[in-house]
Amino acid sequence: MNSKPDIIHSNDFVNAAVALIESAANEAIAARGSFSLSLSGGNTPKPVYEALAKRPLDWSKVIITFGDERCVPPDDAQSNYLMARNTLLDHIAIPAENVLRMKGEIDPAEAAKDYEAELRARSGGGVFRHDLVLLGMGPDGHTASLFPGTPALEERERLVVENYVPKAGMWRITFTYPLLDASRHVCFLVNSVGKDDVLAEVFSGTSSYPCAAVSPTEGKLTWLLGA
Ligand code: 6PG
Repeated sequence: MNSKPDIIHSNDFVNAAVALIESAANEAIAARGSFSLSLSGGNTPKPVYEALAKRPLDWSKVIITFGDERCVPPDDAQSNYLMARNTLLDHIAIPAENVLRMKGEIDPAEAAKDYEAELRARSGGGVFRHDLVLLGMGPDGHTASLFPGTPALEERERLVVENYVPKAGMWRITFTYPLLDASRHVCFLVNSVGKDDVLAEVFSGTSSYPCAAVSPTEGKLTWLLGA
């Protein structure tokens, strides 16, 4: 881990996460007229998204992306997009074109290339710079779909790649470190139950866990830890 993170322990995790997202949104919209927010998958963010849906954000100025997706159809129970719909997207007035869905239902390599092209088209062909990327952390130290021992960890040019994850027995689409590290702000949202040992190693500064390698080049890194 290169850049020194803000490590915040909160016993009001959901409200702390919502406040952080709202603050980033207001700052980005005031400064640049829009807010690009990347959603993490899994279970931890669900109550955060549900609470966020109730906040008075100007969603017409928000662009939603996904840090990773399982290669399944968008109505599959495993889909991160479906989880986001159920907890957030179906409950806010966001223009459909502002939600950039990873196409889990098509060939993974094609879906990854399509998604990268979509992001580059919005950043003059360069590396898209998210205002805020939300990430989770698995018990094996993975984040997004950057799992230990998988090829995506080595990618230094592409922004989005297909990644076969043996332990999940499935293909995934995931942001790579070049895209993550281009962010203005990366915030890990981690419910630390059962993950204390992994977190201790991540914060030791000598960790080889995939999540420990996320290091925004010119941006903030926050770890928001729930009790
Ligand atoms: C996914 C996520 C993944 C997740 C972690 C933590 O697609 O599963 O993007 O990286 O954030 O596995 O998941 P929990 O929040 O369920 O512990």
